[in-house]
Amino acid sequence: MVQVADRTYALGLPLLAEGEVRVAPSILSADFGALAAEISKVAGVTDWLHVDVMDGHFVPNLTLGPPVVASMRPHTGMFLDCHLMMTNPGEYLEAFRDAGADSCSVHVEVGETEALCAEMRRLGIGAGLVVNPETPYEAAAPYLHLFDLLLIMTVHPGFGGQSFIAEAAPKLAEARADAEREGLRVTLQVDGGIDERTATVAALAGARCFVAGSAVFHAPDPAQAVRGIHAAASAVIAASR
Ligand code: DX5
Ligand code: ZN
Repeated sequence: MVQVADRTYALGLPLLAEGEVRVAPSILSADFGALAAEISKVAGVTDWLHVDVMDGHFVPNLTLGPPVVASMRPHTGMFLDCHLMMTNPGEYLEAFRDAGADSCSVHVEVGETEALCAEMRRLGIGAGLVVNPETPYEAAAPYLHLFDLLLIMTVHPGFGGQSFIAEAAPKLAEARADAEREGLRVTLQVDGGIDERTATVAALAGARCFVAGSAVFHAPDPAQAVRGIHAAASAVIAASR
């Protein structure tokens, strides 16, 4: 059984404590017409939700924006982890904060990384940085100390249901080594093609927060799918200690 922490995510505190593992179900694979009911299916087994925001420009798909986050907020106390696949995330950060986002993650590929991080700090939300599969870890490394979360993409962003790109996983190990050497409490997150099998690959490389869309919401029992991914990742982490 996954223990759901009773915690507040205050500014300056790590998003995940040392040793914690989280599965963050991505609502991209949920039924948007019944979002509150879909969220309730995983509410007892995790306290994170991943919200994929696509602008039709940075990625060739459109999803949702602050109004949908605001409409979710009264239905859940879960941590809303908003992944902004947007060319101009800075123009929307305040709107996401006002809508009830707990954290926002911006792509390193859009630039202005330090300014975007400073804006998230000003707004009092968690700050994440995202790295696409074709982008080397070195692009994000200079900013690691500024962020609460580093998200390594293991699919090309834009769509759910794609296959895990294993070649991207070593970036997690690079980030983990840097974080340990520098004493940083950055949460290492992985997103794309995560299921029980690929979660173990990512966990061994250093991931501790596992985004999963289709493996959760397309499963007959989403809560059981979350438990399975959590257990698989936790088992390899424990065995590697
Ligand atoms: C892809 C999104 C992912 C997506 C993952 O652009 O960032 O969060 O929802 O979906 P699965 O788990 O199906 O690969
Ligand atoms: Zn995502």
